[in-house]
Amino acid sequence: TNPSGTVQDVASKGEVPERYIHKESDRGARDAPLMAAPVIDMALLSSSSESGPELEKLRHGLQSWGCFQVVNHGMSAEFLDEIRRLAKQFFDLPMEEKSKYSREEDEIEGYGNDMILSNQQILDWTDRLYLTVYPKESHRFKYWPTNPERFRAVLHEYTANVKLLSEKILKAMAISLDLNEDSFIKQYGEEVKLDARFNFYPRCRNPDLVLGVKPHADGSAITILLQDEEVEGLQFLNGNEWFNAPIVPGALLINVGDQAEITSNGIFKSPVHRVLTNSERERISLAVFYLPDWEKEIEPLEKLIDETRPRLYKTVKNFVGLYFQYYQQGQRPMEAARI
Ligand code: SIN
Ligand code: FE2
Repeated sequence: TNPSGTVQDVASKGEVPERYIHKESDRGARDAPLMAAPVIDMALLSSSSESGPELEKLRHGLQSWGCFQVVNHGMSAEFLDEIRRLAKQFFDLPMEEKSKYSREEDEIEGYGNDMILSNQQILDWTDRLYLTVYPKESHRFKYWPTNPERFRAVLHEYTANVKLLSEKILKAMAISLDLNEDSFIKQYGEEVKLDARFNFYPRCRNPDLVLGVKPHADGSAITILLQDEEVEGLQFLNGNEWFNAPIVPGALLINVGDQAEITSNGIFKSPVHRVLTNSERERISLAVFYLPDWEKEIEPLEKLIDETRPRLYKTVKNFVGLYFQYYQQGQRPMEAARI
């Protein structure tokens, strides 16, 4: 894949190569304030269909932070621990074993590091395992580890749970705007896709020079993130200030992606976020992207457009394709959609 090798290889050599070093103004500060995005109890949310404090909290999170955490989501803490453990075990395998799952140069699925889209690109201090996990027909098993042994079975189970959870959340998002509960889901179509990205952030000798992931917003409708249970590093931008995402035991972190920002006509924010690394501890996470049917037209819902809130976005199709095209040209992908 990448000529400079995986970040894990690079990290084991000690020196931080030029290609990973950000200019000073782009580096991150660890001592940021803690983000105050809400923690939503899914059980309370489901029982309060029309109104209620939980729904109010949800709308606040979506509008002001573009993210929130969920607890009581139906997956036990032990189950989430098992996923993290399996992910760690995979990244801990010898390189020859992991490279059986290496991605091809111009493909996204598989094991490897940051995809190189331009020569000027500063590389992320992270290795990844990227897999399409839904629908079943799209599984490309050559990239699915059989070691550790329970990896595939647990990922299947996690996918089924995340699919259901995503749909509950998308319904609640619609209800929080006084819309029919299916408004978002209907727009995203029958053939939605879920992509999973396991992230592994090796220790870095000079953590302040690099970023685990550069600032970006997600091209998904929503993203469901399982964070490391102990090691922080994720930060969200709000206004002009960066905030640390707290680790809430047993929780999943949900963030709005660009496509839900478009559907909501900008009421919900697709937040810019980034990841810092550190010199003492490696970090893992698992992001699942809920991706609309790529042939469906995505546009602001009519009920969210009026004189006081004019339409902000064009109708787009295959937004993920546009996302990479714009990213490659060094432009913010949402510029592709803005009117
Ligand atoms: C990301 O997918 O943007 C990174 C999330 C994380 O590692 O916490
Ligand atoms: Fe992201």
